[in-house]
Amino acid sequence: MKIATIKRAKEGFDLVCDDIAADKSISHRCAIFSLLADSSSKIKNFLKAEDTLASLEIAKALGAKVKEEDGVITITPPRKIKEPFDILDCQNAGTAIRLYMGLLSGVEGSFVLTGDKYLKNRPMKRVSKPLQDIGAKIDGREFANKAPLHIRGSKLKAFKYRSPIDSAQVKSALILAALNADDKSYYKENLLSRDHTERMLRGMGAKVKNVTIDNEDWIEITPLNEPLKPLDIRVPADPSSGFFFAVAAAITPDSKVLIKDVTLNKTRVEAYKILKQMGADVEFIEKENIYEPIGDIKVKYSGKLKGVEVSKNIAWLIDELPALSIAMAVANGVSRVRNAKELRVKESDRISCVVENLRALGIEAREFEDGYEIRGGEFRGGEVDSCGDHRVAMSFAIAGILSGVKIKDIECVDTSFPNFFEILKNISEVEIGD
Ligand code: S3P
Repeated sequence: MKIATIKRAKEGFDLVCDDIAADKSISHRCAIFSLLADSSSKIKNFLKAEDTLASLEIAKALGAKVKEEDGVITITPPRKIKEPFDILDCQNAGTAIRLYMGLLSGVEGSFVLTGDKYLKNRPMKRVSKPLQDIGAKIDGREFANKAPLHIRGSKLKAFKYRSPIDSAQVKSALILAALNADDKSYYKENLLSRDHTERMLRGMGAKVKNVTIDNEDWIEITPLNEPLKPLDIRVPADPSSGFFFAVAAAITPDSKVLIKDVTLNKTRVEAYKILKQMGADVEFIEKENIYEPIGDIKVKYSGKLKGVEVSKNIAWLIDELPALSIAMAVANGVSRVRNAKELRVKESDRISCVVENLRALGIEAREFEDGYEIRGGEFRGGEVDSCGDHRVAMSFAIAGILSGVKIKDIECVDTSFPNFFEILKNISEVEIGD
């Protein structure tokens, strides 16, 4: 098990980040959606991290040919998705398993989707149940709630589905299934979850439309009658990965960071807006629009932060809540996160893991079933456990720049941001050991 020791940083850094990891959500979708194209997709800046490489390996096992030249990954789809020879290992990636469930449910063949010990503990019923309701043949542990899951691809019926959770993974799985259904399907969520799937599939020529039915916003999906156009994309940087350094700048006197070429999709940058509400100086600079608005984000220290209540638009900042908890821990007053019970079923139970780690570093915090309360104070050095969760590991590394910290079990950082510690070395001393 690897341990990272982070030493207190000097005050006042000016960091330019042009090497933040590529967007994980978009990279997964590049690997998966390229299987639906009629010719080769060209992907620049594909995220080479464990999670997204797992999606790419699965695309290969399903018949895609992948080659890389001058930093461009070319994915040539098979004429027809092939039945794989072996199980499909999604490793730690919820996005991979849930999106492939939706896609493969309507494809002829036998498929087994599995993952690591963390993924095998995460709930899959949210996807398998609506898929079974339209005719998908899925089975697995706990009646198809837990991987390994077996899918026998079959004919799917069109649906009108009102999702009880705002989840882009559930939405994407259902949209992918709808592309293979027997008629137009309709999907509705309460709060728009990240919409990369809709944007990218539309860009490939799929009929995925936003429609109004009885004054409500629905997505209408028309089944494919021919393969789609290929993707031609440069994956932007991941705002969730950039956010660790945004928090670092917001809590370190006289510091600033410039995060370059990141997606500015409104479903992805809400945490930066909360940081601004807490008192940091945050500026968005839109530069281009390729499937999504893309640009730079500047974050500058602007005095001690103030506590904040976060209970709305949770799906837009769910991945950033662990890092935001570090800002909350050093803000004036009490901060609260509510309506975020989804945190309990992420790569770890992020409510108990974050609260326990904050306490280990001398911060007063308590759990709610759907969130937590943090009383701002001062970190004292100490030792924390990542719980095998990449975002927890990186969040507490940022806490370390104020007080020094040891983080156990940091291998998980490679699932989304392999060069995280390299970038961190620009602002703090970092030692990685066993
Ligand atoms: C993701 C959607 C979110 C997010 C995850 C990636 C995606 O999960 O937490 O890290 O790529 O669609 P949910 O859709 O389950 O909320």
